[in-house]
Amino acid sequence: MQPEFDLIIAKGRIATAADSFSADIGIRNGRIVALGQLSGARETIDASGRLVLPGGIDAHVHLAQDGAPGIVMGDDFETGTRSAAFGGNTTVMPFCVQKRGQSLREALKDYHARAEGACYTDTSFHLIVTDPTEQVLGQDLPALVAEGYSSLKVFMTYADMVLSDYEILGVMKVARKTGALVMVHAEGFDAIRFNTEQLEAGGGFGPKFHAISRPEPVEREATHRAATLAELSDVPVMIVHVSGGEVIDEIARARGRGVKVLAETCPQYLVLEEGDLDREGMEGSKYVCSPPPRDRTAQEACWQGLIDGTFDVFSSDHCPYRFDETGKLTPDGKRSFRWIPNGIPGIETRLPILFSEGVKKGRIDINRFVALTATNPARIYGLRNKGTIAIGADADIAIWDPDKTVVIGQDKLHHGTDYTPYEGLEVTGWPETTILRGQVVVRDGELVGRPAGGHVLRPVSGMEQGVKAGR
Ligand code: URP
Ligand code: ZN
Ligand code: ZN
Ligand code: ZN
Repeated sequence: MQPEFDLIIAKGRIATAADSFSADIGIRNGRIVALGQLSGARETIDASGRLVLPGGIDAHVHLAQDGAPGIVMGDDFETGTRSAAFGGNTTVMPFCVQKRGQSLREALKDYHARAEGACYTDTSFHLIVTDPTEQVLGQDLPALVAEGYSSLKVFMTYADMVLSDYEILGVMKVARKTGALVMVHAEGFDAIRFNTEQLEAGGGFGPKFHAISRPEPVEREATHRAATLAELSDVPVMIVHVSGGEVIDEIARARGRGVKVLAETCPQYLVLEEGDLDREGMEGSKYVCSPPPRDRTAQEACWQGLIDGTFDVFSSDHCPYRFDETGKLTPDGKRSFRWIPNGIPGIETRLPILFSEGVKKGRIDINRFVALTATNPARIYGLRNKGTIAIGADADIAIWDPDKTVVIGQDKLHHGTDYTPYEGLEVTGWPETTILRGQVVVRDGELVGRPAGGHVLRPVSGMEQGVKAGR
């Protein structure tokens, strides 16, 4: 007789966003088909003494993006998703970037080609809109949202990406019609540009001036503006990578007016500080990201936001520019901070940092951890059957040793880039086995999956998604 299950994960302690319980998980054809006391599988993984969680969904990562000429991103889809799997993740959401002058379809074709057959985890794209022409807003975007590309990121800064308020309103109008979710990078372009010129004129070139050029009010102002544009457009908006309390206050004010503002924060705003950008020599460039990490007060505000539900999602914003000559140090003798590519790696360390600093230290419980890192991203971005442990769900599972202590270091990670900003940080709790749709990808810290194991997913269409997410 055929065994009833392909795989049983036995005797683990399971946690979902709502519940914690002990049970065996029965898996067949990539789905969870039974929970309880089970037997009869081709393979059984003993998870006694272990925590069994839904595979993490990292809803904000950058993989294989083109930087400025000469700037190399350290991860392609293979190394990036490999690193994600080692960090307990089963789905990642990278960005497909529209170059100015390029059609969205061309951009998607290009990024799909980079991802297909190369991924260890499932993958689902957000679209970055940099050129909202009439054709894009009138034809291309509505068609793509209907096909399932239902999250759009717009930028309020970066010379090659920035949209005017007028253009953002155009994108939001499409979102209103189609049910897409607009994600906003909220930092004010003009203030940053002005500050940058002033700092350089005064001889300020080192990495630390990156943070000085974009203090929290620059982010607060843009957040207020983004929320106002969403209010005028009657659409929800996701403020990504929120760095501190002034921004959180702005989000709370908008919510108080009835604006549907969703919010995300990231590990760098919990454990890094502005002072890290002032490390010896160019070391500080390892911490250059936007918004920049701030101070203890901002860290505490972000924790409070994770505790009280201000934040819906906790993502890495993994953006793996290399520290060596082609990356953070920048070619062509361009030494000013303005030429350091923005972004830091963190796809593998996101979950252990939140687990250790959050769950182990008693700031959040394990259910909130699961909600922030898997269940909410699946719901908000319309990833069907993802983000929970339940009958019928995809068997996307991470088995954790909740007591394993690890000192984070580049030598232990599996990304393709050449440093980690979390070098030396000690964490307790580490994912040891990661299972994607019933297939083991990482087993006891060893890679066993194939790079073609992951699927490139389409979320449910914008409208359907809006209904599901209660928008
Ligand atoms: O500095 C950052 N966060 N770089 C990544 C791109 C973005 O803005 O999310
Ligand atoms: Zn951003
Ligand atoms: Zn980002
Ligand atoms: Zn496939």
